Amino acid sequence: MKGIILAGGFGTRLYPTTLVTSKQLLPIYDKPMLYYPLSILMMSDIKDILIISTKDDLIRMENLLGDGKRFGINLQYKIQEYPYGIAQAFLIGEDFLQNDACALILGDNLFHGAGLIKHLKEAVKRCENNQATIFAYYVKDPSRFGVVQFDEKNNVLNIEEKPLEPKSNYCVTGLYFYPKGVIKKAKKLKPSSRGELEITDLNNLYIEEHNLHVVSLSRGYVWMDAGTNESLLEASNYIKSIEEHQGIKVCCPEEIAYKNHWISKEELLKQGKLMQNNDYGKHLLNVAEGKIKY
Ligand code: G1P
Repeated sequence: MKGIILAGGFGTRLYPTTLVTSKQLLPIYDKPMLYYPLSILMMSDIKDILIISTKDDLIRMENLLGDGKRFGINLQYKIQEYPYGIAQAFLIGEDFLQNDACALILGDNLFHGAGLIKHLKEAVKRCENNQATIFAYYVKDPSRFGVVQFDEKNNVLNIEEKPLEPKSNYCVTGLYFYPKGVIKKAKKLKPSSRGELEITDLNNLYIEEHNLHVVSLSRGYVWMDAGTNESLLEASNYIKSIEEHQGIKVCCPEEIAYKNHWISKEELLKQGKLMQNNDYGKHLLNVAEGKIKY
C-alpha cells in the first residue's frame, strides 16, 4: 500500500499570503498544514509516500520533510506542472505506484475524530479485496463539493460533482483509498467541462462495478479543507482548542512514527531537543519519556 499527498495548485484563494510560499506549508496552529495529511497516511500504516506539488513548492516541501527518515517513512517528490484535476495524481505517480494499492489525500485536508484510525485501517483492508473507500461528510453547503446520492437502504447510487440540486448533504472529502489497478482506471478518464480529470468520475467507475465503499463520517468528526483565509483560521482555532484543553497534539508525525515503532526513543528525543523551547518540542520529549498517557 502506498500513499500520495496531492499538494498542488497555486493557492490563489490565499493571495497575497501564498504569492511567495506554499499553501500547504502555512501553519494550522502549531505545525505546517502538510503534517496533517501526512499523519493520516502514517496512521493508515503507509510508509511509502509521494508528495506532488508545483516545482517551486516542492523544493520547500523537500527542505521541510527531506527523505522522511526522521518520521521513519520514505518520501518521494514529483512535480505537477499544472493542476489538471485530482485524478491526475495517479498519472503523475505511475512509476512510484508500480501498480500497488494507493491512498490519496489532498494536502489541505484536516480530519479529526475518535475511531478514525480504525476507519483508515479498514479502508486499507478493503483495498486487498478490490474495494475502494471514500469518506463522506455531512455539510450544510454540499453544492461546493462532490455529493453522494444514496438510495433508501443507504446504498451509494452515484456521485455528482458540484450539483446545483444536491441529492444529499454528504460531500466527498479529499481522502480516497483505491485497490491495485487504479492507474488503469485513471487513464480511462476524459477531462470534464472544467478541463480536469475528476476524482468524481473515477469514483463513479468504482460505483458502476459495485466496488466503492463510502464511510460516512458521523457527528463528532471534523473535516475541513484549509484553503481559504476563513477555513485556515477556523482550522487553527480548532486545533488550538483541542490541543490546549487536552494537552495533546493532533497529527504529530514524530509521535505517530514513535507509536508505530518506526523511530527509536533516541530519534524522538533528538527531534524534541531540536524544538525544546516550544510546546511542540516539549510534547515530543514528553512522549519519549512516557509522560503522556492516553
Ligand atoms: C474536489 C473534488 C470534490 C471534493 C472536494 C473536496 O473539489 O472535485 O469532489 O468534494 O475536492 O475538497 P475542488 O477542490 O476541485 O473544487
